[in-house]
Amino acid sequence: MSKNTQNAILTIGDERYELPVIVGSEGERAIDVRNLRNDSGCITFDPGYANTGSCTSDITFVDGERGILRHRGYPVEQLAEHSSFIETVMLLIFGELPTQRERDTFREMLINQELLHEDLLHHFEGFPPYGQPMSILSAVINSFASYHPDLLDIQTPEEFRLAVGKIISKVRTIAAFAYRKSLGKPLVYPDPNRSYCANFLHMMFSIPYKEFEPTRAQVRALSLFLLVHADHEQNCSTSTVRMVGSTQANLFASISAGICALWGRLHGGANAAVIDMLESIRQGDLTVTEYLEKVKNKEMRLMGFGHRVYKSFDPRARILKQAAHDLLLEQDKHNDPLLEIAKELENAALSDDFFIERSLYPNVDFYSGIILRTLGIPVNMYPVMFAIGRMPGWIAHWAEENHGPTKIHRPRQVYTGPVQRDYVAIDDREPRG
Ligand code: ACO
Repeated sequence: MSKNTQNAILTIGDERYELPVIVGSEGERAIDVRNLRNDSGCITFDPGYANTGSCTSDITFVDGERGILRHRGYPVEQLAEHSSFIETVMLLIFGELPTQRERDTFREMLINQELLHEDLLHHFEGFPPYGQPMSILSAVINSFASYHPDLLDIQTPEEFRLAVGKIISKVRTIAAFAYRKSLGKPLVYPDPNRSYCANFLHMMFSIPYKEFEPTRAQVRALSLFLLVHADHEQNCSTSTVRMVGSTQANLFASISAGICALWGRLHGGANAAVIDMLESIRQGDLTVTEYLEKVKNKEMRLMGFGHRVYKSFDPRARILKQAAHDLLLEQDKHNDPLLEIAKELENAALSDDFFIERSLYPNVDFYSGIILRTLGIPVNMYPVMFAIGRMPGWIAHWAEENHGPTKIHRPRQVYTGPVQRDYVAIDDREPRG
């Protein structure tokens, strides 16, 4: 970060304020308002924070206008082509692509950490049948704080690596157990001889005496799905993790809060909402044209379209569109009726003025739902899958928040409620309605 030679000038009435402009490594400019309230008595007003930088960060660069996503400088397209999810995890969290030795050591750690503490298994029993996997995931990750009290106050790089290994490895075990629990199926333990993604699919779909053997395309599609979700700078859940972390809450609690933030339909729930939307069109509730008319009348949203940041295209959507195509081809499912509806919706929306004028393009969720569906993953697991992918980003941001100069996140507000009034005894209050 550098200081611009030019300052921004703000005039309020007769008063004039000079505000420093800071410049990021990709030339992004920000007006530094840190002293604004002290100097002028004014705050900035930016609901939804669309124009607010809450931190500086070395992790991920996004340029929404040009459809650019880079992690630690590397374009996501190159990582998708040459790297793997686990290598991307290491890049995001530790700052550099790993050497072979570092990669092997990390792999060893993931294997050592893949089992859950047996006592932790009772937590799964405590959830009702058909319990929501997302609530199970956030609760169990939060409970790590009780199972690993030695990692509550991480002080050394070794403690941090251990906490990372535990979370990255165990999250897929928890996710798969949550799924099996929701179906009343026996839990399948991890197999140390399988790769990260193959092991997850094994825990999801193997049954006693019948091992599930995923194809290369299935493993590749899952790895790409996780990789493109690995980080996306200051999105809602990541900002939540940073905000909770800014109180010096432990890593597990902060990540658990991020999982909860991800749950909503406008964030991690969007890929499930895409499938619900396609399913409702398939079942004949509405035709594609009728659905789009309702979207244009603002009665509903076209799920999987639009993005707070990307205004030309979502680079992750391009990667997953190709991955979905390859997977469907291999599985001979390219005649999937939902995919046909998705294509029809996409073509109709991309040539419609309503969407063109508002720069609304398919986002990553438009295709990720199709990949997960083809992998046989049920809809209530979609946000959990997103959470597994986003885990490295959350951890990297938590670490960055905690290693920098700590300042608790505490936005201001413009109060619009009643001005001061005096308390009225209950017998003297006017009846309402
Ligand atoms: N369908 C219909 N209209 C939309 C959509 C949509 N999916 N997205 C935005 N719009 C409209 C807005 O209503 C607004 O219309 P207006 O100018 O007439 O008022 C206009 O497009 C501009 O909206 P933005 O300000 O660009 O949207 P915003 O930043 O507020 O919201 C969001 C972004 C929440 C992602 C939105 O596009 C949306 O709801 N999309 C559907 C849900 C979805 O797919 N979420 C996944 C996001 S990606 C992720 O989380 C990994």
